[in-house]
Amino acid sequence: MHALASILALASTASAIQGFNYGSTFTTGAAKQQSDFENEFTTAQNLKGTSGWTSARLYTMVQGGTASDPISAIPAAIKTKTSLLLGLWASGGDTSFANEILALKAAIKQYGDDFVKIVDGISVGSEDLYRNSPQGIEAGSNVGTGPDTIVRYIKETKDAISGTGLEGIPIGHVDTWTAWYNGSNKAVIDACDWVGMDAYPYFQDTMANDISKSKSLFQEALDKTQQAAGGKKVWITETGHPVSGKTVGQSVASADNAEKFWKDVVCPLLSSNTNLWYYTLQDAAPDTPSPSFGIVGNKLTTTPLFDLSCDKANTGSSSSSSASPSSTGKGGSSSTASGSDASTTSAIGNSGGSPGGVPSGQISSEQSATVTPTAISPISTGTGSSGSGSGSNGTFTVPPASGSTIPASGAQGLQSGAFAAAFGAIMAAIYAL
Ligand SMILES: *[C@@H]1O[C@H](CO)[C@@H](O)[C@H](O)[C@H]1NC(C)=O
Ligand SMILES: *[C@@H]1O[C@H](CO)[C@@H](O)[C@H](O)[C@H]1NC(C)=O
Repeated sequence: MHALASILALASTASAIQGFNYGSTFTTGAAKQQSDFENEFTTAQNLKGTSGWTSARLYTMVQGGTASDPISAIPAAIKTKTSLLLGLWASGGDTSFANEILALKAAIKQYGDDFVKIVDGISVGSEDLYRNSPQGIEAGSNVGTGPDTIVRYIKETKDAISGTGLEGIPIGHVDTWTAWYNGSNKAVIDACDWVGMDAYPYFQDTMANDISKSKSLFQEALDKTQQAAGGKKVWITETGHPVSGKTVGQSVASADNAEKFWKDVVCPLLSSNTNLWYYTLQDAAPDTPSPSFGIVGNKLTTTPLFDLSCDKANTGSSSSSSASPSSTGKGGSSSTASGSDASTTSAIGNSGGSPGGVPSGQISSEQSATVTPTAISPISTGTGSSGSGSGSNGTFTVPPASGSTIPASGAQGLQSGAFAAAFGAIMAAIYAL
């Protein structure tokens, strides 16, 4: 009892990282400037009913409208005491990736220790493998990248930070759980220090996915990802439920359901000390996309569209178990426990694309992939298309890890939407070349 009590105490002291995903552009394609990021970060920290939303996950290192200048989210984060999960866009081809590296190095040089000490980790790529899969392509997502390229880029990133203040910072990759569960992508897992999972039950339209199923769908996605990750830490890099938009399968987009998702999935994750970047604080500035996942609407305000408090939530939900100790600080870790459900054989359906993967984005990605900056269509928001993850390739036989499960519903629909924003920046960068 004593031991248990002290472990719990320890777990609660070590706070996990909590944050939102931040694109580099507005829905018009206009680049966010430092003051814009400052306003967003400050709003996140002061959201009514919450505390601790102090991390920002980025999709690109490059400031919109420039070729390879460091993104202005960095000085904004330093000023507002926000930590950063950096992102390097990896689906734009080698030239585009080289610019991401240039911006990363320039940031280290320009901001030094003020910057280095607020970095939670680095993600090389975002949903590139999903977009490269049949499901992603069918869902109309954009150009992606294969596992070999991601592995190569991870190595290049490691080399780039070697001997700098960022040396040793945990490097990972973000993708849908279906991509992680695909055995053909295992080399990426091997190259990662941590695995970032995107999960959107809303998009999982090949299975029963009404809002009451969100928790179990999310949990299943997490279990599969943890199985595939084989003991590496799994960070929840994107999840959320739309406040508006069309019904996908049985899942209705509404503020009420977003609140239910928050209570059923997000609150338990928070109490289990898992590193989490919710999608998202705001995606409707100035235009509201469909679906829209923002917890605030067109106007940046600390008053959310639905109640974000967790005290009333049933955090001790059925599937939740003990908190998995997560580390904090630089490179904070998250839970690595694999779900108790790991042996489940339930069918894997659609994994859903990220809200950002839209048709317009596809045009841009293809352009960026070939480095032919023609008409840049600012991809501001994405629509989440659903990708399906086939379980056929889940050849992982990792034994169910013991440990805590994160109470949530399995999201098989994942895909980040933020990717669109990153695109804008990348395209702008390429354009500027
Ligand atoms: C599995 O991953 C490989 C490599 O990324 C990809 O080519 C293949 O299409 C994926 N299979 C499925 C079913 O997604
Ligand atoms: C599953 O992955 C294996 C290799 O890991 C590959 O040989 C096989 O073709 C894949 N199957 C599908 C359906 O992608």
